[in-house]
Amino acid sequence: TDRSGRRVFDLTAATGATEFLSGNPTDTWGVNGSYLGPTLRARTGDRVRVHVTNHLDEPTTLHWHGMHLPAAMDGGPHQPIAPGATWSPEWTVTQPAATLWYHAHPAGRTLEQVYRGLAGLFLIDDRVSATSGLPHRYGVDDIPLIVQDKNFTGDGQLDTGRTRFSPIGPLGDEILVNGTHDPYLPVTTRLVRLRLLNASAARTYDFGFTDNRPFAAVASDAGLLPAPYELRRLRLAPSERAEIVVAVSPDDHVVLRSHPTGLGGGALPDRFAGADDSFDILRLQAASRLTGPTALPEQLPAPAPVIPPAGADRRVFTFNHASRINGHAYAPHRIDFSVAPGATEIWELRNGSDNPHVFHVHGVSFTVLSLAGSRPPPHLTGRKDSLLLPAGTAAVIVVRFGTHADPERPYMFHCHLMAHEDHGMMGQYTVT
Ligand code: C2O
Ligand code: CU
Ligand code: CU
Repeated sequence: TDRSGRRVFDLTAATGATEFLSGNPTDTWGVNGSYLGPTLRARTGDRVRVHVTNHLDEPTTLHWHGMHLPAAMDGGPHQPIAPGATWSPEWTVTQPAATLWYHAHPAGRTLEQVYRGLAGLFLIDDRVSATSGLPHRYGVDDIPLIVQDKNFTGDGQLDTGRTRFSPIGPLGDEILVNGTHDPYLPVTTRLVRLRLLNASAARTYDFGFTDNRPFAAVASDAGLLPAPYELRRLRLAPSERAEIVVAVSPDDHVVLRSHPTGLGGGALPDRFAGADDSFDILRLQAASRLTGPTALPEQLPAPAPVIPPAGADRRVFTFNHASRINGHAYAPHRIDFSVAPGATEIWELRNGSDNPHVFHVHGVSFTVLSLAGSRPPPHLTGRKDSLLLPAGTAAVIVVRFGTHADPERPYMFHCHLMAHEDHGMMGQYTVT
């Protein structure tokens, strides 16, 4: 915290070396380290200032994914940081407790830079989140899990070139969790909260435990759910987050796994999109004596859902092929539309293709009204900023915009399959 009460973070993007596979250090990029970046943490109401310094030899930028802030502070393709330069955005946190993240977002190079390691978590706490009854001791019973798939060459080098043929971008055949290969978690409490972030380029995971034990979903991308909701499987597409709480008993050994899942495209397109694959994600090893409560609260202090006012404006977004939204590829100088400060709109998102797409919009969170013609499942009823659109499905969402007007600087919306985003499946809007 500085003298004027701002929470200040100093971040430097630089190259490094990381030993993911033992005995084989490989070139990586990281923020304040060799791979990924520190978990940033702030409270609702805080004023935040970040100094982002670029020690790479190409432009980069850091985007605060899920954060409600002025477009000039957002860190998209319009705020490139030249090699050697420092960019210092500043904003006030106005949204409720959530598991947000940050990642590189330069025009056309997001996939490559995130793949090499430019990403981290940004957790928001608020007045009610600490007393909600959820586990909240970071690293003890509140565990961040940044899940990524990677490819390595035969001699253990991170392979940024080899891409298994896939219409959705590169799929890896090895899993890293928080940059660790084959990880395990020693557990000392009866309940463990896992904050899952899918920071992969293209892969969708369907998380569940190997013994099929139930767990509780307690938060989606941008805030708590109204109540814990029991699940055995939870699907997460690139950039989506979910918080889950799982109960363990003494000496339990259980594995969090990603299971095969349908992505809506039929057998062949789904296989090429990685839907048949499965991976062990994390081994949990419980101690013989466990502490803490055994049960979750019945209700959670969730933010209110966004209710669409009668007569709200509607917009339709169609995801075509792998590089277009409503028929247009991204063009830096084209603003697709503008909205009034604080407006609420209903958006229909249509995926008419054989492949999944992942809708994401900057600067706001939204509520899902329907998915594939039905009400969304309970774990998708919380606030979201990213949404998997399986092949051939449509979703309807309600979006309430922020009040930071700026006719010059846009916010982005795009497919979060990073190859699609880099290939132009991205548009932009202004708040004016
Ligand atoms: Cu994770 Cu444009 O965002
Ligand atoms: Cu974003
Ligand atoms: Cu896409």
